[in-house]
Amino acid sequence: MSLLITNIAELMTQDLEHRVLTDAAVVIDGERIAWIGPAASAPAADDAVDAGRRALLPGWVDSHTHLLFAGDRTAEFEARMAGESYSAGGIAVTVDATRATSDFDLTRLAMGRVAEAVSQGTTYMETKTGYGLDVEQEARSARIASTAADQATYLGAHLVPAGQDADAYTDLVCGPMLSAVRPYVQWADVFCEKGAFTEDQSRRVLQACRDAGLGLRVHGNQLGEGPGVRLAVEVGAASVDHVNYLAGADVEALAGTWSGWDPASGTGVRGTMATCLPACDLSTRQPLAPARALLDAGVQVALASNCNPGTSYTSSMAYCVATAVLQMKLSVHEAVRAATYGGALALHKDRGTDADGQRAVGSIAVGHRADLHLLNAPSATHLAYRPGMPLTYAVWRAGVRAR
Ligand code: NIG
Repeated sequence: MSLLITNIAELMTQDLEHRVLTDAAVVIDGERIAWIGPAASAPAADDAVDAGRRALLPGWVDSHTHLLFAGDRTAEFEARMAGESYSAGGIAVTVDATRATSDFDLTRLAMGRVAEAVSQGTTYMETKTGYGLDVEQEARSARIASTAADQATYLGAHLVPAGQDADAYTDLVCGPMLSAVRPYVQWADVFCEKGAFTEDQSRRVLQACRDAGLGLRVHGNQLGEGPGVRLAVEVGAASVDHVNYLAGADVEALAGTWSGWDPASGTGVRGTMATCLPACDLSTRQPLAPARALLDAGVQVALASNCNPGTSYTSSMAYCVATAVLQMKLSVHEAVRAATYGGALALHKDRGTDADGQRAVGSIAVGHRADLHLLNAPSATHLAYRPGMPLTYAVWRAGVRAR
């Protein structure tokens, strides 16, 4: 079954040539994009949608979320707004509430959060464990994550549970807990920060997870300068996320990881993404991650929501894009790219077409997955020009109308 979407005022492809077409059309066939080009020469299809001179973008790719949680941390947020600073300790509150929640309810909560994100234009999501913190609970979170989201990440190394010895807990994360979650996850992550895991503990976790065949990600440099970025580069992580406090050497190290990658063809060895989380920066009143400086230095940047109950209780990628433009000084095109193609790069889903059955997401190109986001606006500029407005008009996820 094919579908023609025509009369598109602006088609922001976020493809390798960064094409932005006007008066355009797209044909999707099943789950794939089959054709893009000028509306005047669009082929016939089984069905048609008139986009009404609206803008069409790739669906958002949200490469960093923590959706497996129960409970409420409004009081912590209120205290922060009254002047308290964020510390990792709040994670324990969510761990208690999550452990006390049934499988059914945890699944319902996670699925509900995914549905909320999809209704706002997100079509591909990663999510993490990290509110279980024992073998059984982490395994259950990983299992639910693997059904709720497109990719799942093991974050047993989120916080050392109260009363436990940090090194003994790290052994557990690297051993029995890793074995229990392994069938469900593609990635492993570690919160490498003062108050969470030290550089040595983080390295141990990352090495064990790499040996188990997982791709690596790091929460780093969120609350202060530290070893997170250096470690992510050292172990060849796909992404280091937060990156609020960076030394010049951190930026150089990240840029260096992209020397073997060709942005024009999207081929070569992918480096370590810097994933910026602007909604989290605002909610924790941390300095915004230096996304402008990172891009200028040649680092590939992703934007993600970091949806979680402690530091960023939103899945709105449009809010992240607006903040990236208004406050981080990215152009609209750069911000949308970071929230689509950037997310795909961070999740290693930027490549793949008909031949290998691994359809790329995050850009609109023939053979890629038909993940599309039609705005109720004539151009993507409206995302920053009219921040906070409900600009999602229609969403297709793998070719299926999702809104
Ligand atoms: O990415 N920084 C660590 N983890 C989450 C916050 C988790 C929480 O406070 O519940 C984050 O911001």
